[in-house]
Amino acid sequence: MIDLYRLAWPFIRLLDPETAHGLAIKALRRGLVAAQPSLKDPVLEQTLWGRAFANPVGLAAGFDKNADVIDAMLAQGFGFVEIGSVTPRPQPGNPRPRLFRLPAHEAIINRMGFNNDGLDVVAGRLEKRVRSGILGVNLGKNKDSTDANADYVQGIARLAGFADYLVVNVSSPNTPGLRALQGREPLQALLEAALQARSRAVSENPPPLLLKIAPDLTDEDKSDIAEVALATGIDGLIATNTTIDRPQDLTHENASQSGGLSGRPLFEPSTRVLGQMYQLTGGRIPLIGVGGISSGADAYAKIRAGASLVQFYSAMVYHGPGRVQAIKRELAGLIKADGFTSITQAIGADQNKRVGKT
Ligand SMILES: Cc1cc2nc3c(=O)[nH]c(=O)nc-3n(C[C@H](O)[C@H](O)[C@H](O)COP(=O)(O)O)c2cc1C
Repeated sequence: MIDLYRLAWPFIRLLDPETAHGLAIKALRRGLVAAQPSLKDPVLEQTLWGRAFANPVGLAAGFDKNADVIDAMLAQGFGFVEIGSVTPRPQPGNPRPRLFRLPAHEAIINRMGFNNDGLDVVAGRLEKRVRSGILGVNLGKNKDSTDANADYVQGIARLAGFADYLVVNVSSPNTPGLRALQGREPLQALLEAALQARSRAVSENPPPLLLKIAPDLTDEDKSDIAEVALATGIDGLIATNTTIDRPQDLTHENASQSGGLSGRPLFEPSTRVLGQMYQLTGGRIPLIGVGGISSGADAYAKIRAGASLVQFYSAMVYHGPGRVQAIKRELAGLIKADGFTSITQAIGADQNKRVGKT
């Protein structure tokens, strides 16, 4: 089948970004975007948390907030798909416009504010689905909730049974107060409650529980998060969400829009945080690297900085879903060119060199 996205892109980019996203979801749901031939390469395969990943390149949260197109995205070649963030009750999010392109920088600013269908509707969709491929379920809290921990616990209770991994997202910049949950005491309490909820929800082979963090953290925040992550025994970290920072060279007129910045300008800061978290956790828990990935080289840099898996979203807005195949192909070549026979050998390679390990 033809690459509909490539053909339609000149027209899509004339639409406002949220309308374009809605159309992309509709086209994917109706099977109008051709599945990609499977591009299997053993060098990209790994088993993590007892789950077999055919490749390490996943779809980041926020694209398929409501579990509408999981299988269509897996068919594009993603090694895993993360839905959400899902909040207990449905909520409309912030007023539009709330999504902005900065094409010269291949960047996006969003202040969506967790618009989503809520747990019941998403659970209904997941119940109807035949389980295949690897699914991450990313959870958030309602804007008007007074008990954040209870929201995450509710999300886990309702959706853990469908998830290959769970994400506690405390790093979106568009829900007031959310990022404060990254502080030592609130984080410890939240993660303990979340782990208990997970054990109650799925007693046998429960899904790993990951924490998604912001790029805008102080050094103290980062060491606290690493300590709490190791002490509570959560299974991984996702670094990072969007940034509220604005690099000085961000000249596009949309740069002053409030919200979280993603895409190319996020690559450096998010990779730096990823590497720091790898160091701070001593490589003892798997990390997912996300932020500004647009090529196989970008994905490889995250892996060498300490990521076991990677994800992207913004590059798809500029290049279409076909980009995942290009990233995988280039990544496999780079891993082999460095003499590795498996991706697992490349994880943290830059960091290990720095700390004197082989
Ligand atoms: C429009 C949009 C909506 C997003 N919504 C969520 C969300 O609901 N939950 C979440 O954890 N991350 C969300 N993200 C953040 C992405 O998952 C990712 O962390 C970030 O965009 C950096 O990756 P990228 O540079 O490849 O886009 C969203 C990003 C965008 C652009």
